[in-house]
Amino acid sequence: MLRYFTAGESHGEALVAFLSGLPAGLRIEQEFLDRELWRRQQGYGRGGRMKIERDTARILSGVRHGATIGSPISILLENKDWKNWQESLPVGAGDSAKHKRVASPRPGHADLAGALKYNFSEARYVLERASARESAARVAVGGLAKLFLRQLGIEVLSHVVAVGTAALEKEMSWEHIRGMYGREEVVLNCADAEAEQRMKEEVDKVLKTGDSVGGIFEVVAHHVPPGLGTYAQWDERLDALLAGAVMSLQAVKAVEIGAGVTAAASPGSAVHDEIGYDKTAGFCGFTRGRNNAGGIEGGVSNGQDIRVRGYLKPISTLRRPLQSVDFASREPVKAAYERSDVCVVPAAGVAGEAMVALTLARCALDKFGGDSMLETLRNFEGYLQQLKNY
Ligand SMILES: Cc1cc2nc3c(=O)[nH]c(=O)nc-3n(C[C@H](O)[C@H](O)[C@H](O)COP(=O)(O)O)c2cc1C
Repeated sequence: MLRYFTAGESHGEALVAFLSGLPAGLRIEQEFLDRELWRRQQGYGRGGRMKIERDTARILSGVRHGATIGSPISILLENKDWKNWQESLPVGAGDSAKHKRVASPRPGHADLAGALKYNFSEARYVLERASARESAARVAVGGLAKLFLRQLGIEVLSHVVAVGTAALEKEMSWEHIRGMYGREEVVLNCADAEAEQRMKEEVDKVLKTGDSVGGIFEVVAHHVPPGLGTYAQWDERLDALLAGAVMSLQAVKAVEIGAGVTAAASPGSAVHDEIGYDKTAGFCGFTRGRNNAGGIEGGVSNGQDIRVRGYLKPISTLRRPLQSVDFASREPVKAAYERSDVCVVPAAGVAGEAMVALTLARCALDKFGGDSMLETLRNFEGYLQQLKNY
């Protein structure tokens, strides 16, 4: 079973991620993992931190001579900013005068709920862990899941569909989305130049006013065979697993599979993807014409591209802060401000890819099993043959 955990605080010494359950014999490309981490750091509207961090995944265990050995993988990502924080966030008792309090909770952040839950008198420790810096660790293990999926011919990428009110009006093909992967400069990771310009203007608007903006990313998983996930048990449905995984990302407040949102207001005839047959098409000849289902029916992948959208609320740290209350005095004050992003939709998309890749890798391993890649691929190819002969 594929399992993963992350640990680490935003301004601590490092983030750590653990992944267990990958078969032995999977080749690991360091460059690929670091590029994934770089992609998460891109995007117009990111804060100053992205300039000081250049993440790299240092693998500590589970990989030897360039390939997995079947034992748990641990990855360390250094926080380059630690040198500026080691006195204010020491592991030992340290000097309490150097502690950087977060005196007034930010509406929309975890500050107040977290401080109440853990009985902290202010929110520093809350934001240290609630912060989406943690998503870098997910992208690192997500990169391993992507390398595994690649062996099955599955690729997972994202693009930005909306920033604030600026939206991409058309559906983008896999080829378009795939074509953006090599870009050396990521603006808003939108596949359409005109829409991207409008999105940039949305960011400029909030930069000027000290506000922030949310948006929508779409993750597409290409060449996923039919049969991942199952309707047989509620907690094994692929749509449910994907929704939970993407929703777990910081600031994601809604998840949509395929045309899920508009489908609710449309007649069935306009929603459901009619079935055809062409012997040479896809995994076993069945065709669908369109993909409103987002590649999943009955909690099972149906052989079409999987499309999952994450809806992000606007960032809650505002340069022009909202009203709050001082933790100590309970007097009304402005919410705390600390260097912050104003738009993170492209970065959240990359973290979304990681969550989708980890979920698909888990479902693929549930179905095909295997302690070595040889065994997994043998089982996988046997299944592909079974589909062909169907
Ligand atoms: C990639 C990424 C970067 C983020 N950067 C910031 C940030 O700089 N400032 C901020 O206030 N929130 C940021 N957030 C959002 C917060 O982490 C999030 O709103 C907060 O942890 C509360 O969780 P919730 O929004 O899921 O309720 C970011 C989210 C993502 C996905």
